[in-house]
Amino acid sequence: MALLMPTLETPRPFFLLMIYGTMLGVVLVVKNLQKRYDKFIAVHDVSFHVQRGEVYGLLGPNGAGKSSTIRVLSCLAKPDSGSVVIDGSDIVQEQAKVKRTIGIVPQDFALYDDFSALENLVFFGRLYGISGRDLKIRAQELLEAVGLLERSHEAVGTFSGGMKRRINIAAGLMHKPKMLYLDEPTVGIDPQSRRKILDLVKTLNASGLTVLYTTHYMEEAEELCHRIGVIDQGKIIAEGTLAQMRQLAGETAPIRLELREPLAASQLEQLKTLVDEIIAEENTLTLFARDPKDALSGILQMLSSFGAHVHHLELDEPDLETVFLKLTGRRLRD
Ligand SMILES: Nc1ncnc2c1ncn2[C@@H]1O[C@H](COP(=O)(O)OP(=O)(O)OP(=O)(O)O)[C@@H](O)[C@H]1O
Ligand SMILES: [Mg+2]
Repeated sequence: MALLMPTLETPRPFFLLMIYGTMLGVVLVVKNLQKRYDKFIAVHDVSFHVQRGEVYGLLGPNGAGKSSTIRVLSCLAKPDSGSVVIDGSDIVQEQAKVKRTIGIVPQDFALYDDFSALENLVFFGRLYGISGRDLKIRAQELLEAVGLLERSHEAVGTFSGGMKRRINIAAGLMHKPKMLYLDEPTVGIDPQSRRKILDLVKTLNASGLTVLYTTHYMEEAEELCHRIGVIDQGKIIAEGTLAQMRQLAGETAPIRLELREPLAASQLEQLKTLVDEIIAEENTLTLFARDPKDALSGILQMLSSFGAHVHHLELDEPDLETVFLKLTGRRLRD
């Protein structure tokens, strides 16, 4: 017994390391990816990675190269150069393994309008080799998860855009993938359905699913994504957490003040010593400071020493729109 104990106990830390080793780490590695359509380069030298358990956002305007990237990552188009490895498998050499690992929810609906919701899911499940009782059970579980169990037997052609999108998400999950690609899943749907889809993505992610999410809505990227890659004209032009992105745009975050009365010219001159720039319009001041939060207390002290009354104060957190504007000189949405 005494001899046995050490042999039973010693493997434990190693065993735990093995379990957690498979849960942590990187699922998707994209290196120097290029995708061309004839001579036009839609994706230039794109590199990023996605950690297991994270929601990674590819944020970019129309035509940025989001869907082209997703198509390559889904084995639907071949890369012209670069490499993509998903859960240890190369997307060109080991397509069968890759296809088992990923679930795809394409930008355009991929559903049969004449089939019911259940029949669609059963159809996609069969494509992935699921059969028998498991097939129907899985389809019903997913219909419940996306909130459409009561509509199981209705033809998908009668569904709203938001409902179709939820069925498409369920179809992408039939084979229990480790990672889900969602290509602009909320475009063209009503706000209520959009809310349901965003909440569904959060729930799926909380249950352990890794997600690659493309969007041109910065507020979605801000709400959902642990890390964001900003893509424009086929290139990733910035990458990081929301906080890192905000830091990147921090210098341009304005402080807006509404005063009871305009400041005198001499007072404005004094205030200018505390910040980089002031735009004064009647009794409204917009101030730009390198570190707006730090500058704020000094500004308020000085205004109080002038006897000025502040009616309203706004300190906007710089958002991804500001980051994009700063990096490209253009707005994310035209
Ligand atoms: N099959 C194709 N043949 C030729 N050019 C294409 C093809 N598919 C996409 N492109 C071009 O490649 C560029 C990137 O397109 P892509 O669809 O990847 O962008 P996107 O970021 O998904 O845009 P959106 O937000 O509009 O969906 C665009 O200039 C587009 O016109
Ligand atoms: Mg697209």
